[in-house]
Amino acid sequence: MIKESRVLKYPKVIWTILKNAPTLDPLVILLNSKLYYLENKGNIESFLTIKEWKDSTEIGTVYTYPEFRNKGLARKLIKSVIKKYKNVGLICKENLIPFYKKQGLKKSSSTNNKIEKRKELFNKTLGKIFKYKLVVMKN
Ligand SMILES: CC(C)(COP(=O)(O)OP(=O)(O)OC[C@H]1O[C@@H](n2cnc3c(N)ncnc32)[C@H](O)[C@@H]1OP(=O)(O)O)[C@@H](O)C(=O)NCCC(=O)NCCS
Repeated sequence: MIKESRVLKYPKVIWTILKNAPTLDPLVILLNSKLYYLENKGNIESFLTIKEWKDSTEIGTVYTYPEFRNKGLARKLIKSVIKKYKNVGLICKENLIPFYKKQGLKKSSSTNNKIEKRKELFNKTLGKIFKYKLVVMKN
């Protein structure tokens, strides 16, 4: 069963996001984003975070702990969010496009909403330093 909470209530999630930055988005910690997770006997196996902007809903981070990967956990979380929210999108590295396409999301080439503007800002600034580009996938 998918559970809902806030990022700041889960030190394990905060640590995972910090450890994997800048791939995963530390902004979700500052915003105390909404957290959806799957657990087994109190142990979080997979989670995703949600940032609600005025014009869109952004999936901030998707993470499955290595020993629980390829069991459909991330897919389950993403599908439930797409069902629940309107205008869902996310920012990711190009290598994850095939994964998100499998979840029914498409690459966006516009620059209208908050998510797309955040991606543009990253590519023009930090992207140049880290030497990679991000893309927006949306439903
Ligand atoms: C990417 C990640 C979230 C996938 O989690 P997962 O729980 O193993 O994913 P699922 O088991 O739900 O996979 C669903 C489908 O996507 C496929 N898939 C999984 N990882 C993939 C990848 N990196 N690239 C392409 N396809 C992938 C699975 O094979 C599965 O395919 P199927 O529907 O044909 O069976 C996980 O590998 C992870 O946490 N990686 C590190 C963090 C990260 O990169 N997060 C994304 C950026 S925020």
